[in-house]
Amino acid sequence: MSSDLSTTFTGVRFQNPFLLSSAPPTESEANILRAFDAGWGGVVTKTIGLHPVVNVIGPKTMFLRADADSAQLSMKKRPGAALHSSWNWELISDKTLDWWVPRLGRIKRAFPNHALVASIMAGSGNDTELRHWQELAVACQEQGCDALELNLSCPHMDRPDMGSNVGKDKELVSIVTKIVKEAAKIPVWAKLTPSTTDIVVEARGAFLGGADAVVSSNTFTSLPLIDADTLDFEVHVDGLVSTGGLGGPAILPLSLAKMSQLTQAFPDNSFSGIGGVSTFEHALNYFLLGCGTVQVCTAAMLDHAVGPNVIRALNQGLARFLDKHADKGWTKVENFVGLRRDRVVSQAKIRRPDEKDYRGGYEAEGYAEPTTV
Ligand SMILES: Cc1cc2nc3c(=O)[nH]c(=O)nc-3n(C[C@H](O)[C@H](O)[C@H](O)COP(=O)(O)O)c2cc1C
Repeated sequence: MSSDLSTTFTGVRFQNPFLLSSAPPTESEANILRAFDAGWGGVVTKTIGLHPVVNVIGPKTMFLRADADSAQLSMKKRPGAALHSSWNWELISDKTLDWWVPRLGRIKRAFPNHALVASIMAGSGNDTELRHWQELAVACQEQGCDALELNLSCPHMDRPDMGSNVGKDKELVSIVTKIVKEAAKIPVWAKLTPSTTDIVVEARGAFLGGADAVVSSNTFTSLPLIDADTLDFEVHVDGLVSTGGLGGPAILPLSLAKMSQLTQAFPDNSFSGIGGVSTFEHALNYFLLGCGTVQVCTAAMLDHAVGPNVIRALNQGLARFLDKHADKGWTKVENFVGLRRDRVVSQAKIRRPDEKDYRGGYEAEGYAEPTTV
């Protein structure tokens, strides 16, 4: 029996639950068409704004790699090194809404059965700027976009009323979501920043504002490492750097912790998981914690820019998984979403050994044998 990989998330049908997240893989019409051809169930466009932006000179994204036989961690390309993370300081799309509008329409007409989600961002400092959110939302939905994703999470915006600075303020999260919901006829997803103390607080703001789903994680605020030979940051312009965002394998466990907080706090709500996914086994973590869809960036960037091999492996992995669990009656992703959500508990609820078995955890790697003096 061939598996049914399709799913419905916030009322939108996806041929499979895997999306390219808002980032370079979805920065152009050509990329998005290639992505749909390759089999992605949906894409979230690179974040669209009203005004032109200009990126820093030089590379916008670099990849940090680790060696198997030494502790070296560096962005220097070398054979045999494994990917640790991506680091970027790329701004939102350097193409404005006017550039995107005809392209969104064309993409949707070419692939009517694939989900096209528009990521949008504006300021939120006054009523005029809040109306920009509505302008962006209406323009994208008029082109047939299936949903909107609000970028409340870009970690490198200087303005206090943009990106992750909005995502750190529960009232602003709520206001922006509500403003967009007033204009939107399609579902609205809020992409929150992981760089806060308790993401549940901002998620509550998003849901109070009417969000149909919360998306997490955007990249984690971070710095590139300093090269011990040159004493320069591995990424810099004229010796200067600013904080950027960490993505890729290193953030998978961090992002899962955020997602677990979210899905436990709002078990009946919809979540899309992002962060460090390159295989079905990674994505499975997000599903089991309660996500209905999973998004990918770094792994796709490193696989022919739009991830044809990544999406093939994700779809094959999901099909194999459904086959393996067919005896449980699982035929769709929905059958196992959230199945491990309640296995994350407070420390006090974790079993302690009986006194005679107590070895203080010293049998594990990383601890010296206890000595008696
Ligand atoms: C170069 C680069 C650019 C990105 N641009 C955006 C963006 O415009 N809007 C957005 O919401 N997220 C953006 N992101 C964040 C990704 O969509 C994603 O949330 C993050 O990279 C974590 O996923 P990953 O571990 O699969 O990379 C960007 C990430 C990278 C690496």
